[in-house]
This record gives sequence, structure tokens and C-alpha cells, in this order.
Amino acid sequence: MRCVVFIFLLTGVNGSSNNQLNFPFDVARDPNSGALYISDSWNHRIMSYFVNASSGTVVAGGSGPGTNNSQLNYPIGIYLDLPSNSLFIANYNSNNVVRWVLGASSWTLIAGSSSGANGTSSTLLYRPLDVTVDFMGNVYVADAFNHRIQFFLAGSLNGTTITGVSVTFGSDSFHLYYPYAVALDSQLNLYVSDCLNHRIQNFYSIEKHNNFII
Ligand SMILES: *[C@@H]1O[C@H](CO)[C@@H](O)[C@H](O)[C@H]1NC(C)=O
Ligand SMILES: *[C@@H]1O[C@H](CO)[C@@H](O)[C@H](O)[C@H]1NC(C)=O
Ligand SMILES: *[C@@H]1O[C@H](CO)[C@@H](O)[C@H](O)[C@H]1NC(C)=O
Ligand SMILES: *[C@@H]1O[C@H](CO)[C@@H](O)[C@H](O)[C@H]1NC(C)=O
Repeated sequence: MRCVVFIFLLTGVNGSSNNQLNFPFDVARDPNSGALYISDSWNHRIMSYFVNASSGTVVAGGSGPGTNNSQLNYPIGIYLDLPSNSLFIANYNSNNVVRWVLGASSWTLIAGSSSGANGTSSTLLYRPLDVTVDFMGNVYVADAFNHRIQFFLAGSLNGTTITGVSVTFGSDSFHLYYPYAVALDSQLNLYVSDCLNHRIQNFYSIEKHNNFII
């Protein structure tokens, strides 16, 4: 977490009750209901809050850090996928990405190891920090400590590196250096916060993803 500057202003109080958070890292908003989803990382859970509510509801995790399928393990980036009514969660300390259908009590594995193993192969991740999903259900993961963005066709656990060079960091246009966040636009152009290079990289879909789209 070398890029993250934690500012311990003594105005906040952390905690684990339903009106408290402990290192929230990411938010996603449901444009229909207005509900806000928050990755409450150090409580190993995702909370939902309705507008102006003074407390939230645990929608995922909340049973301590761990690798069983009802637990999360320092979740960081989240993506709300409306078509599947689910949250995709970059489950940082378990080295995987999981999908949690809203209302369900457990996750299903989307990428990486279900047991939490890290690695550099096409089926493993190392400290994933963020995830996004396109309209076809394909998944893009900021595989931060492998310095790469992994692409998983919907339903596949075998990924392809679409930007960056696996395991090798660098500062030219082919390399990344701890990618932290990913976002897509409606044309499937990919935006990556390339944290330790202090830049945002834009990868054009036509260049990088034509194997998958056409
Ligand atoms: C939330 O609270 C603010 C401030 O009191 C108010 O202006 C706003 O209308 C409220 N929103 C909803 C959806 O209740
Ligand atoms: C996962 O671990 C938690 C905490 O130990 C436990 O409460 C829960 O029952 C376990 N769930 C499963 C599905 O094993
Ligand atoms: C990554 O996995 C290796 C074993 O393959 C393990 O020794 C190491 O502690 C793991 N690193 C982290 C940060 O989990
Ligand atoms: C993943 O895909 C690559 C490229 O198609 C293939 O060579 C490899 O065998 C696959 N790995 C697994 C574990 O399916």
C-alpha cells in the first residue's frame, strides 16, 4: 500500500458497529435506488447506506478476515454490476476477485485463488486492488503487485495480461508500476491509475482488446 497516504486526523473514530467504518477504500452507487456501497476494508465487509441514513447494513463479509466463502479479507476496490445485481470485489489479502450477489450470504470466485494463494500465472493474482466489468460481463483487474491488468472473459478463471508486463515494472508505455484503479468508458477504453509512475494511462479498446471484441 505504498501509494496510500493515511492521514490520521483525530476527527474520525473507527469501529465495527453498523454506523462506523474502519479504513473505507472505495464506493459504488446504485443510480436507481441511490444506495451507496462502501468497501469497509479493515472490517472485512461491504456496507450499504441509503441516502441520509445514519447507519448502514452489512451486505458482504463481516465475519472476520479469512478465505472461506462467507468472508472477505481486506476488500479494496468494488464494482456494482447492475445486470447481475452483484458486487465484484477486489479481495486484496486473499489475492482474488469475488462476486457477491446482493442478498446472498457468500461469494463466488471470479479470478485468482479461492484459498488465497498469490502468484504470477494466468490463473493467479497478487494483491488485486480494483476491478471493473464491461457490459458483456468481462472482468478487468488491477493486479497491482504483478504490475499488470488482467482480463477475464466472462466465466473464465484464466486471465490474459492486456496492459503492463507481468511481474516487471517500468515507466515506458508498455509497463505499469503498481496499478491501483481501473475504469472503462462506454467505448471500452480502459483507464488505469499507474500509481508509482504518477500517471493515468489510457488504453484504446481497438488497440488492446480487438481479440476479444470483434
Ligand atoms: C438528505 O438530507 C439533506 C439535509 O437535511 C436534505 O436536504 C435532503 O433532501 C435529504 N435527502 C433525502 C433523499 O432525504
Ligand atoms: C467462515 O468463517 C467464519 C469465522 O470463523 C464463520 O463464522 C463462518 O461460519 C465460516 N463460514 C463458512 C461457510 O465456513
Ligand atoms: C505469496 O506466496 C508465497 C508462496 O507462494 C508466500 O511465501 C508469500 O508469503 C506470499 N506473499 C504474500 C504477501 O502473501
Ligand atoms: C490459459 O490460457 C492460455 C492461452 O490460451 C493457455 O495457454 C493456458 O493453457 C490456459 N491455462 C489454463 C490453466 O487453462
